Amino acid sequence: MTQETTQQNETINNQIRYVSHEIRNHLSICDMYSQIIKKNLEKEGISNNSIDNALNCIQKSIQIISSNVTDLKSINNNAKKIYDFETLCYKAIELSKAYIDDKDIEFETFIKNSTNILVDENRFLSCIVNIIKNGIESIEIKGKIIILSEIKNNKAIIKISNNGKQIPKTKQDTIFDCGYTTKDSGSGLGLNICKKYIESQNGTIKLNKSTKTETQFEITIPIN
Ligand SMILES: Nc1ncnc2c1ncn2[C@@H]1O[C@H](COP(=O)(O)OP(=O)(O)O)[C@@H](O)[C@H]1O
Ligand SMILES: [Mg+2]
Repeated sequence: MTQETTQQNETINNQIRYVSHEIRNHLSICDMYSQIIKKNLEKEGISNNSIDNALNCIQKSIQIISSNVTDLKSINNNAKKIYDFETLCYKAIELSKAYIDDKDIEFETFIKNSTNILVDENRFLSCIVNIIKNGIESIEIKGKIIILSEIKNNKAIIKISNNGKQIPKTKQDTIFDCGYTTKDSGSGLGLNICKKYIESQNGTIKLNKSTKTETQFEITIPIN
């Protein structure tokens, strides 16, 4: 390594440290305040499912960001544990609903059966959220997202469909490429990140179909 590259690496490392430090500081403020809100609501005897759900989603998102910040330090930040598949699916759906914003989108969820799966919760949730978010973004104003999950042939399977804009036939193989995006403010990283993580778990992710009426993605995770 040349002296110049060593210096560049050091500058990048410092930058990562500073940015991580600042992100963590502000994440802890968000976390603390969401806990304070929860406690105050309890004290006042206010019970509101929508507020509880929002606070739980905020806290889960904080954990996901925090785990991503840890990824900056180490590529082996993979905290695999056993989770109930159905519970994870519902958590991901709740997180994703934040992206509905002012669109008129109906969610239908069919969970056939469940089992324990061994995954890194934050990464797994991020993948499902990425797919549902894409589905929401493909719908202009009004539409439907359908989530089907089941355990079959020693695999946990989740199928996510929407009735938004079709992916052109010629682009259906390209969508998983790093940087491919058709959105003005897109990054083209979502599907690529999902594919990398799911495949690192010996799972699969594919586009089952994209027609004028339905686009469906399928993720499978092997059960050991
Ligand atoms: N459900 C979907 N419906 C229509 N197009 C999709 C869908 N999911 C992904 N795409 C297409 O694949 C591209 C890449 O998606 P992604 O990797 O998540 O990046 P981004 O969302 O930042 O564009 C999107 O820009 C879009 O063109
Ligand atoms: Mg995306």
